Amino acid sequence: MPVAALFTPVAIGPLRLANRAAVAPMTRTSATDEGLATAQMARYYGDFARGGFGLVICEGTFTDDRMAQGYLNQPGIVTEAQVAAWRAVVDEVHGAGAAVFLQLQHAGAIAQGRPQGGQNVGPSAVQPKGEQLSIYKGSGAWGMPREITSDELGQVVADFAACALRAQEAGFDGVEIHGANGYLLDQLFTSYTNERTDEYGGDIRNRARLDEEVVRAIRLAVGPTYPVGIRLSQSKVNDYDYTWPGGEDDARVVFRLLEAAGASYFHLTEHDITQPVFGSGQTLAGLAKRFSTLPVIANGGLDDPAVAAAAVTGGAADIVALGKPALANPDWPERVRAGKPLDEFDFQLLLPVATLDNAEAWRVARG
Ligand SMILES: Cc1cc2nc3c(=O)[nH]c(=O)nc-3n(C[C@H](O)[C@H](O)[C@H](O)COP(=O)(O)O)c2cc1C
Repeated sequence: MPVAALFTPVAIGPLRLANRAAVAPMTRTSATDEGLATAQMARYYGDFARGGFGLVICEGTFTDDRMAQGYLNQPGIVTEAQVAAWRAVVDEVHGAGAAVFLQLQHAGAIAQGRPQGGQNVGPSAVQPKGEQLSIYKGSGAWGMPREITSDELGQVVADFAACALRAQEAGFDGVEIHGANGYLLDQLFTSYTNERTDEYGGDIRNRARLDEEVVRAIRLAVGPTYPVGIRLSQSKVNDYDYTWPGGEDDARVVFRLLEAAGASYFHLTEHDITQPVFGSGQTLAGLAKRFSTLPVIANGGLDDPAVAAAAVTGGAADIVALGKPALANPDWPERVRAGKPLDEFDFQLLLPVATLDNAEAWRVARG
């Protein structure tokens, strides 16, 4: 049976996962106004563990109480109360036998909801492309960001490290740095949003410096073996078609740099992660395998279990992460294992805003 490859154990550092099916991080804007995870969120994350996923990666979580928050009702991991609230989520996922990671996120120039208000920060004063996301209560263009100072970037790095430590204290089995999809770290990494002339701007080595510093600082904070991953992408929530300008060379530089800085895994996401990139004949996840020795999580368009399994058997990934297919089928691994049919994802589940309340209402209405 071809899907059997998904159901073998795999390790990230000292952490052993029961299988290779992970839930991709998904923002649900269902925390309290103070950024506390709720009992509803614990149930939601627990359902994936009960449904057979070996790893649950919790949603992008803000890393400071000034500028990092991107969306109203996003959870944080800044205060002791936020740590305590996450502990209940961790316990529920662990109780059902899965491992659980927390994704750490700074929204930078595309923050669209923050109780503190104020002007967003970005690498440079460059107007973000696209429009705010309506599924997180945004509308219209983003404001012009203010160029973040290098001292403030140092604080961003320290905040990521402090938050990783808090995640460890909350019982998370690992942390994932959100370096993808157009948020602050990716804004530094991206050529057209980064016009800096200091050591954070210019060539790929400089544009990857914030990623490197965040990985290094977290590694120092959490000890030598704690799982610390970083998620990278080409496309963004506000720019679907961006590609890394240096192609395969950029991939070589960034994967080598971040492994050397102390990353324990890479998580690559594309709309369709099975597509070869840069004329290399390999997928972006495959290039992470080629240019590093680390485990690789692949995400994007892996709805078909046979395709997901082929990513593993073909050597392009060690773990597959599912976003929308997991929302449609919180028990995706159990169903796949048993050969049962899968439900198709219905975008209505995320409308008008992508909250857990609306998803529950959608489920009730569907009967
Ligand atoms: C509702 C929703 C929220 C998301 N929030 C995040 C997030 O917080 N962090 C992140 O890295 N990606 C986020 N994503 C992207 C997903 O992790 C994933 O990359 C994307 O859905 C493609 O994978 P799929 O084809 O399996 O759905 C989100 C996607 C959805 C649908």
